Amino acid sequence: MGKLLKITLVGIVLAFVGERIVRFRERMGATRTLDPVELPNCHLLEGIEAGSEDIDILPNGLAFISAGLKYPGIKSFAPDKPGEILLLDMTDKNPVPVPLTISPGFDVDSFNPHGISTYIDRKDDTVYLLVVNHPQFKSTVEVFKFVEEENALEHLKTIRHDLLPRINDLVAMGPDSFYATNDHYFTNSIMSNLEMFLGLRWTNVIYYSPKEVKEVATDFCMANGINVSPDNKYIYVADIFGNDIHVLRKNPDWSLTPVKVLHLESFLDNLFVDPTTGDIWSGCHINAFKLFFYDPEDLPGSEVIRVQNILSEKPIVTQVYVNNGSVLQGSSVACVYDKKLLVGTVFHRALYCELEDQ
Ligand SMILES: *[C@@H]1O[C@H](CO)[C@@H](O)[C@H](O)[C@H]1NC(C)=O
Repeated sequence: MGKLLKITLVGIVLAFVGERIVRFRERMGATRTLDPVELPNCHLLEGIEAGSEDIDILPNGLAFISAGLKYPGIKSFAPDKPGEILLLDMTDKNPVPVPLTISPGFDVDSFNPHGISTYIDRKDDTVYLLVVNHPQFKSTVEVFKFVEEENALEHLKTIRHDLLPRINDLVAMGPDSFYATNDHYFTNSIMSNLEMFLGLRWTNVIYYSPKEVKEVATDFCMANGINVSPDNKYIYVADIFGNDIHVLRKNPDWSLTPVKVLHLESFLDNLFVDPTTGDIWSGCHINAFKLFFYDPEDLPGSEVIRVQNILSEKPIVTQVYVNNGSVLQGSSVACVYDKKLLVGTVFHRALYCELEDQ
């Protein structure tokens, strides 16, 4: 009898774990494949071999690229090389990425940049670059001033906060205020893997300013990219494992009110907002399972989508580019500037394309 009970219990546990594994693989899109969508005028950028995870572009066409991310459980082609911020002039005929030097005193050896966002102070046109950093896999936000004449970043301050334990991305609202996503609830790696495995919806969006820090949205499987509409009224949040873009209205007290959720099939990473059209561009993962369980024989691919009129009843979603990994692996961001498209990746290369009239 005792033996029978044990066998039954073991059977129940195995059935539960088995069901969870099946559900986990489904949620991660383990069997999702897509037909290729090619673009005619593209080439890989020289000098980017180990990631270009996030990109932001100034109105004058200067693009900042966050390169060399080391993220728990994800492939790195240069695990011992510190990360860096690269500058790319999108107005050049043949743009070449240039690493920015960082002012003395900042620990460049442990620099592990992730999401980035620019802020321009209209009073004196100072450009600030806010960077999510993971020195020793912790989470901080570094505030830099961009010194264009010297191709340099001057480090101004490091922000840490208990409400910012696992930051993924941010969107600047001022030189040292921002909305940021936490992509996990737990900091401990076993617990945070379990959190992903069980599909808990415990991640959130935080508003940070030196005066006030608060949670402004929650209930995301894994909150990832975040950005703002050109009219500054709406915040867009990508939930990578929910396959959703959340639209939230910004209130005068910086709280957010949910407006709508656009559900897609893709695993959305960073979001870029075209300042002229308001279109949302995203570098997506075709299959998140292949991103987290890297297999050189079965590569993670890249998918770029554009969402037009997200606030309308029928937003138009276009697959602009799809590749199975033969060219570009693990796209995480797609930005446009003057009919040029720049696609960055979590740990691989970066693709530059000239778009035809659409
Ligand atoms: C990936 O795509 C390329 C180009 O479209 C194709 O030649 C190749 O066979 C594909 N590889 C796999 C594994 O499907």
